[in-house]
Amino acid sequence: MTSTQNSIPTAKSSSNLDLKGRNTLGFDATAELAYEINTAEQIPAVMQEITAKKMLWRVLGGGSNVILPKVLPGATLLINIPGVEVIGSNLDITTIAVGSGVNWHEFVTWTLDQDFCGLENLALIPGTVGAAPIQNIGVYGVEVSDYIQAVEAYDAKERIFTTLSNQDCHFAYRDSHFKQQPNRFIVTKVIFDIPKQWQARIQYADLAKQFPVGSSPNPKDIFAAVCAIRSHKLPDPKVIGNAGSFFQNPIVHSEQYETLILKHPGLVSYPDAGNKRKLAAGWLIDQCGLKGQRMGNVGVYENQALVLVNHGGGNAQDILGLAKCIQDAVHSKFGVKLEIEPNIF
Ligand code: EPU
Repeated sequence: MTSTQNSIPTAKSSSNLDLKGRNTLGFDATAELAYEINTAEQIPAVMQEITAKKMLWRVLGGGSNVILPKVLPGATLLINIPGVEVIGSNLDITTIAVGSGVNWHEFVTWTLDQDFCGLENLALIPGTVGAAPIQNIGVYGVEVSDYIQAVEAYDAKERIFTTLSNQDCHFAYRDSHFKQQPNRFIVTKVIFDIPKQWQARIQYADLAKQFPVGSSPNPKDIFAAVCAIRSHKLPDPKVIGNAGSFFQNPIVHSEQYETLILKHPGLVSYPDAGNKRKLAAGWLIDQCGLKGQRMGNVGVYENQALVLVNHGGGNAQDILGLAKCIQDAVHSKFGVKLEIEPNIF
């Protein structure tokens, strides 16, 4: 595509694009046809073309939460929409509009440099700003949904640009309206509301351990502590391929929890809504003796059993095979089903 219409530059497209560097698991993968989306205005024409060609399509952001096959058939939209802009400020809140292609960690770093504090617990999460609301990224007691005012997106079903309020996004643990309706929304911009009154959230055990009791860390201290913990516990995708947590922490009813804790007194869990309990999947996998185990080119990370890694040369089949072994082991020991967290393309 080279022509221009209404002075909007058309999206660049390329065939058989190598995606090895665009998925953090580092799998060998190519996109049959890839479109580089640099502005939201390019999307309708691209979608029209995709529809006319009756092609399958999907969006690829930072590639940090996906399992790619060797060839991605149809169209792959690579979202590079830039821009970070303060669009409002009152006594209580700073409102910031961010393009969906902006790198998440760079955005968090920028907010702290501007003294807009609150996102520090979410430091060092790989991926893009546009991907953050899809799985409602969350760490150390904070979820991104706590800070999202609205999400702007192209609705491929209705063929219109739309704005979803925080409520419309139906955020839940690792879940959202976007995740529930795959292949419908293409996120173009996320609007954040950052409260001016800041409070440290360091109750989460791993984080609390970093600070002496009674100390009052500032946002940059917390940012540094989060970066240190994550760097230790989670492998750097540039060094060893991974997609972060490979499974969700399973949520069980209180009766199942009571039975489990009697049998396994060390069980790590957290209270969840409606009298349910969220179990630490990493602990369950670890208890099956799987931490650090290797199966061919893939394996379970040695410092965090919830993370599966590509030691080099691994592919989707290898990692899904390993995942199945883990799911079976956890199910037979604890009777709990583990759900895969990354999107399988
Ligand atoms: N644990 C083990 N063995 C392991 C791993 C964990 O015993 O191999 C135990 C830990 O000792 C701890 C508990 O399990 O008591 C929980 O572990 P951790 O604090 O590492 O957190 P997590 O529940 O495994 C979740 C998120 C992570 C996030 C951390 C911190 C999910 C699926 N994962 O992991 O998110 O960094 O909490 O908030 O909710 C990600 O999504 O990619 C991710 C890394």
